[in-house]
Amino acid sequence: MIMNVENTLGVVVRVREFDPSKDGLSVEQVESRCEVGPSGKLCLFTDLLGDPICRVRHSPAFLMLVAEIGDEIVGMIRGCIKTVTCGKKLSRNGKNNNNDTIKPLPVYTKLAYILGLRVSPSHRRMGIGLRLVKRLEEWFRESGAEYSYIATENDNDASVKLFTDKCGYSKFRTPSILVNPVYAHRVTVPKHVTIIQVGASDAELLYRRKFSTTEFFPRDIDSVLKNKLSLGTFLAVPRGSYSPESWPGSDAFLSNPPESWAVMSVWNCKEVFKLEVRGASRVRRTLARTTRIVDRVLPWLKIPSIPELFRPFGLHFIYGLGGEGPRAVKLVKALCGYAHNLAKESGCGVVATEVSSGDPLKLGIPHWKVLSCAEDLWCIKRLGEDYSDGSVGDWTKSPPGLSIFVDPREF
Ligand SMILES: CC(C)(COP(=O)(O)OP(=O)(O)OC[C@H]1O[C@@H](n2cnc3c(N)ncnc32)[C@H](O)[C@@H]1OP(=O)(O)O)[C@@H](O)C(=O)NCCC(=O)NCCS
Repeated sequence: MIMNVENTLGVVVRVREFDPSKDGLSVEQVESRCEVGPSGKLCLFTDLLGDPICRVRHSPAFLMLVAEIGDEIVGMIRGCIKTVTCGKKLSRNGKNNNNDTIKPLPVYTKLAYILGLRVSPSHRRMGIGLRLVKRLEEWFRESGAEYSYIATENDNDASVKLFTDKCGYSKFRTPSILVNPVYAHRVTVPKHVTIIQVGASDAELLYRRKFSTTEFFPRDIDSVLKNKLSLGTFLAVPRGSYSPESWPGSDAFLSNPPESWAVMSVWNCKEVFKLEVRGASRVRRTLARTTRIVDRVLPWLKIPSIPELFRPFGLHFIYGLGGEGPRAVKLVKALCGYAHNLAKESGCGVVATEVSSGDPLKLGIPHWKVLSCAEDLWCIKRLGEDYSDGSVGDWTKSPPGLSIFVDPREF
């Protein structure tokens, strides 16, 4: 796929598919020139560990494009497509009228996601970003995607304007990215909570039964759960209700659940990319190191020490966080503690998750404000006019639900 396009300044910009055999290094160089974040302040640098398509390669379909002038790569974009829930419909289920139950069923749509758009600072405002988005959207349409969305920081003016003013996207959802440091000490999981790890098939059954009507729920949840980056699914239940030894399987569990329970899965981003906070002063680094040393030497004090974030660090991502019952928030908190300890064992710097900003379970997720992002802006666009409105109508116009399912493959 090659497309020559003359931009407004008379320069020929060629857009073509990324070629891993020869483009790796040039793409990496553009990437490092594009550190997102205001200059003179702390900024977050992402190291893709030499694999530019690492953040899309686990999706069912993906494409990476590069823009070049002569033989210099000056921009790139990645996209992927999958099927997700965009709403729900009610279905009558029963043999006779007395036994009828009304069950919500998911309505699926083919959704495209744009990520990793970068244009070299020396070639900005030449229309290259716009060309890359348009070319990627052509592939989305050819592949039958109905919607396309992007996630960006609310204050990334260039990106927000590009998508909303020039490409027809509208502001859609603002989930919160919650990030908690991994301390040098272990977090205590309360004694009145039992954590049970369930296998991928049991997890699939549980997620499909309980969360398949949550928007953005991926229809191929089974391949997410079975991916080698998924470190497991964990249930928190009140002690005495179920135990790992007496776990009867999700089917039996869901027909007789305890009053409250919570679930989460953990994704190992550490093998995909590393992050690094750049631009920190020497004083700040020294202070962080001191807290860590004290925490390591006196772990019983449980000092909230600052991890080593100023060198490349890995992270775990909690996905599929959900629960029911009056104690669900407390059980979520216990699960987050458990996830913290898992991340500590694998040497991660932070644990992150992303949930709908209005999710009631958010209260149970420990996080540091300074590391988190209260409003990650998701913008969406319907790719064609010729889709039937079906039972949910135009998703882009729908109000947000209480929760959202954030796919770990795209974090
Ligand atoms: C966002 C980014 C990809 C834009 O690339 P670009 O090639 O400069 O964008 P274009 O020249 O195609 O701009 C198209 C439109 O976007 C908007 N835009 C782009 N840069 C802008 C800026 N700095 N301020 C305001 N609007 C901007 C304008 O509407 C522009 O149209 P105009 O030039 O006719 O006014 C580029 O700034 C970049 O790489 N930023 C760092 C990485 C990043 O933030 N990526 C997006 C994450 S989703």
